[in-house]
Amino acid sequence: MEGRKLRRSLVLSISISLFLLLTWLHLPSSPENFIKKPGPTHHESDVPHHPLDPLTVHEFNKVRAILATHPLFESSSTYSLNAIALEEPDKELVLKWKRGDPLLPRKASVTAMVKGKSHILLVDLNTSEVSYNELGSTSGYPILTIEETARILEVPFKNVEFNSTIAQRGINMGDVKCVPLSSGWYNMPIENKRRVIKVQCFSMKDSVNFYMKPIEGLTVLIDIDREEVLHIFDNGRGIPVAKGIDTDYRYSVQKLRGELHLFNPISMEQPKGPSFIVEDGHLVKWANWEFHLKADARAGIIISQAKVRDPDTSEMRSVMYKGFTSELFVPYMDPTDAWYFKTYMDAGEYGFGLQAMPLDPLNDCPRNAYYMDAVFAAADATPYLRPNIICVFETYAGDIAWRHAETPFNNFKVTEVRPKVNLVVRMAASVGNYDYIVDWEFQTDGLIRSKVGLSGMLMVKGTIYDHMNQVPSEEYLYGPLLSENLIGVIHDHYIIYYLDLDIDGTDNSFTKVNIKKH
Ligand SMILES: *[C@@H]1O[C@H](CO)[C@@H](O)[C@H](O)[C@H]1NC(C)=O
Ligand SMILES: *[C@@H]1O[C@H](CO)[C@@H](O)[C@H](O)[C@H]1NC(C)=O
Repeated sequence: MEGRKLRRSLVLSISISLFLLLTWLHLPSSPENFIKKPGPTHHESDVPHHPLDPLTVHEFNKVRAILATHPLFESSSTYSLNAIALEEPDKELVLKWKRGDPLLPRKASVTAMVKGKSHILLVDLNTSEVSYNELGSTSGYPILTIEETARILEVPFKNVEFNSTIAQRGINMGDVKCVPLSSGWYNMPIENKRRVIKVQCFSMKDSVNFYMKPIEGLTVLIDIDREEVLHIFDNGRGIPVAKGIDTDYRYSVQKLRGELHLFNPISMEQPKGPSFIVEDGHLVKWANWEFHLKADARAGIIISQAKVRDPDTSEMRSVMYKGFTSELFVPYMDPTDAWYFKTYMDAGEYGFGLQAMPLDPLNDCPRNAYYMDAVFAAADATPYLRPNIICVFETYAGDIAWRHAETPFNNFKVTEVRPKVNLVVRMAASVGNYDYIVDWEFQTDGLIRSKVGLSGMLMVKGTIYDHMNQVPSEEYLYGPLLSENLIGVIHDHYIIYYLDLDIDGTDNSFTKVNIKKH
C-alpha cells in the first residue's frame, strides 16, 4: 500500500547543477550584424494566443506608434527604449484563463531613457493608454541597448590621449578591439549625474581570440549619453601584450597545425520524428508534460505553467507557474585599479536573451530539434527577429528509466523495460567572452532539472611575468599564472533563479531541511 501511495504522489525535484568554472564581455561592433528587420515572415501576421505569449511584431509596432505621440518623447529628439516586454497579466487571471476565452488585455512594460533619466512606462495595447513614472537620474540605470554599445565602442578612438597611449605601447591602431565592461558609478566627481561605463581594449593581432591579448591597465571611462571620454586610466604600460600563440580556437586554423582529433559524425535516429508538439507557437506538449515556453530579452528562456499528467487520474497537475534565470552575477577577486569593478550582472546589464545568438543546428542541438525565434526591439521600438534562439529536443543516451525482469522459474517470464528519454529546452547566451548553455530538462517521472554549462574564453589579466620563478609573492597575482604574461583572475559565477513552484496549486511553501544524525 505504501509503495502505491508513494508512486501516486508526485515526486518533483529541481536540481540546479551549475557547471561553473571561472568571466566575461564584448558585443559585435555593429548592431546591423545581428539586428535583422523582419521581412514578410509568418511573424508579421502573428497574433498572441495565450496571455503569456510574448509581444508580437505587430504589438511592438503598436507600442512604437503609441509612444511616438506621447508628450515625454515628443519633446525630446534623443531618447532610447532600453527594454520593452510583455507586462504579464496577474497570475490569478492567467490561472483562470482557458483556451478559447478572449485574451486578457495586452500590456507592454517599457524602460526608457529620456535626457539622462530613467522612466518606466506601461502601455495598454487594447486602450492605447500610457501610464508612467520617472525614476530619476541617479538610480534605475536600464539595460544597455545594442545601439548604445555600438556607439560606446567608437568613443575611445575620438580621443587623442587614447590614440597616443596605444601608439606608445607599440600596438597597431587597426588591431585594437574594445569591449564595454561595467556601467555604474565609480565615485569620481567627474561622473556628476552622468551614466558612465568603463571600456577596456585588446589586441587582435594574429588571432581571433583577442581575449588572450589584453592591453592591461588601460581603462577608458565614457559618458554613455554624451558619447565622450571622461577619463583614461593609463596604467600598466610596462606590461607587454601576451603573444597569444596557438590560442586561435577555430577548427579551420587548428587543422592547419595538424591538431584536429575528431570522432566520426554522430546522430540519434527518430524514424517517426520527435514525440513533442508545439501548439500556437509556445505551448510545448511532450509525454506527460505540458508548458508554455518563450524567449525573453532579459531572462533568456521563460518556462510558465508547467504541468504534468497524473498517471492514475489522467489529470494535469500543476508543478511550476514560472521559472527563469533572473540574474548572473560574476565578481572578480582582484582589487586593483583595472579589475576591482568587474562585478558583472549579465542579465540586468546586458540582457541574457539579447546576448543569445542563433543556435548552430546539429552542433548546438541535435537532429529533429524544434527551433523557436524571438522578437526583440531596437532602441526605437522597431521589432527585429532573432532566429533559432531556443531549441527543444528529446535526449536519449541509451540509459534505462525503469526496468524489472523475473527469474524464469516454471516458465514464468516477464521483462519490462522503459528507455530513459528526456525533453530539453536549450539556449546558449554569449555574454562577451563566456558562453552560458542553459538547459531545462524534463523527465517523465516529474523531475525538472536546470543545468548551466559554461564555455567560451577566460577573462585574463596581462602581467610582466612569464614564469612563476619571477613572481616574488603569489598573493598579488589574484589568480594563477596561466601562461606567459597571463593571469587567470579568480572569480565566481552566481546563477540566480526565479522559481514560482505551484505543486498541486498555489498554496506552497519552501522549506529547507537539514537532517542531522544524533
Ligand atoms: C485585447 O486585444 C487583443 C488583441 O490584441 C484581443 O484578442 C483581446 O480580446 C483584447 N482584450 C480586451 C479585454 O479588449
Ligand atoms: C585615432 O585613431 C583612429 C584610427 O587610426 C582614427 O580614425 C582617429 O581619427 C584617431 N583619433 C584622433 C583624435 O586622432
